[in-house]
Amino acid sequence: MALPTIRELLNSPGPKAGAVARGWIKTRRDSKVMSFAELNDGSCRESLQAVFCRENGDFSAILPSLVSGAAVEIQGDLVASPAAGQKYELRARQVKLYGGCDPEKYPIQKKKASDEFLRTVAHLRPRTNKYAAMLRIRAELAYAVHTYFRDNGFFYVHTPILTASDCEGAGQMFTATALDLSELKALPRTEGGEIDFSKDLLGKKTYLTVSGQLEGESLALALGKIYTFGPTFRAENSNTYRHCAEFWQIEPEMAFYELDDDMDLAESFIKAVTKSVLEKCPSDLGLFARFVEPALLDNLRNVTENKYERLPYTEAVKLLEPENARFEARVSWGADLASEHERFLVENYFKKPVILYNKPKEVGSFYMKLNDDGRTVRGMDVLVPRIGELVGGSERENRLDVLEQKMAAFKIDPQAYWWYLDLRRYGSVPHSGFGLGFERLMMLITGISNIRDVSAYPRVPGYAEF
Ligand code: 4AD
Ligand code: MG
Repeated sequence: MALPTIRELLNSPGPKAGAVARGWIKTRRDSKVMSFAELNDGSCRESLQAVFCRENGDFSAILPSLVSGAAVEIQGDLVASPAAGQKYELRARQVKLYGGCDPEKYPIQKKKASDEFLRTVAHLRPRTNKYAAMLRIRAELAYAVHTYFRDNGFFYVHTPILTASDCEGAGQMFTATALDLSELKALPRTEGGEIDFSKDLLGKKTYLTVSGQLEGESLALALGKIYTFGPTFRAENSNTYRHCAEFWQIEPEMAFYELDDDMDLAESFIKAVTKSVLEKCPSDLGLFARFVEPALLDNLRNVTENKYERLPYTEAVKLLEPENARFEARVSWGADLASEHERFLVENYFKKPVILYNKPKEVGSFYMKLNDDGRTVRGMDVLVPRIGELVGGSERENRLDVLEQKMAAFKIDPQAYWWYLDLRRYGSVPHSGFGLGFERLMMLITGISNIRDVSAYPRVPGYAEF
């Protein structure tokens, strides 16, 4: 039977006789005459205090089982609590033990465990206050994403996860095959001895998508404004605090938008979803502000209240060059900026988010629109404190001849992208879009400093447990 959650019980309009709560025990303490157990069911940060006193029953047989991690149902009366910081407590009358828990072996102990240790018990870490709060915020943030786009006339579309095209042209793709690679000798071969993927299930070599952009463009050129929000994959061996092999990406794509419109949208979007979480998750965010990042609320105000600095790449290089002594990688015109440079601009120089645009065409992607100077492209990155790049986007090259030249320069086979080129043949219009890494947004909003701790089951180089 579905019962009210602890969140609902704690928000009850008044006391309630005959209330039932189910969940997991956080802690229990006993005094001479009473026992107290903190019961949490994951519905909110707060636990419900269950009070066991003799006049309400003999709990002596079951109390020893009410240890941290045990799953129980407690029936009793919800009454105003004399204790500070909680509106109600549950005066227990009956207790049912669902699943016991050996406190000696239970990996989630009351004393604070390290993030590294908790990653090794990712199946149990959602029972800690911190990871439960993270997951509730993640759910609320996903909801805010859909609300924002829906309220602004965008259609949610689903682009393929199995794809034959490499959107970023960077070759960082996981091959997806139905061929049995453990039977090397039995694999179909071409005359040249290569694996013959035309005999694979999908009839050609396919990969897990790195981005839904290319397919998203075709949908924007029919529906006007669309967005995708789904998993994307990068087979890049980057062992950093901000890279995952699997991450969720939000990718809006808009017909008739130029680069300025794209930047306006990215800024408005980040501000709106951040404000929405600030409003809806004060208690869970409070946990992060107290225990994880003391400057969290100031940082979030910085992101929601400032106008983002719009900085052409060439200007950025002029600002960074005199600082080269402090960087591991030297900056000069033509070089891609690294996270240390991005963070310097945001954290030391402007002290607010920066939108860096018009990068050299060689460091941009093949699909970015070439500027009239012939050297730079209309790409943009939104850089934020602590993380660096949160968004990568651009106005797309909508001229067939220029796109073909750029593909040649990037050594991309135009035949494989025949359908993408078609979009420039039939009713081409200026259009733009961007990709925002959902996990990086989670890092920004919670103050969590490692991307491994903003997903339930992170996928990073060398680790695919669970
Ligand atoms: O800058 P990226 O590679 O851009 C694209 O994929 C474009 N096709 C997006 C578009 O225009 N529709 O990735 C976009 C964003 C980055 O800014 C970053 O936030 C995130 O995706 N990202 C990652 N997040 C976690 N782990 C990784 N390995 C990531 N790679 C990119
Ligand atoms: Mg990028």
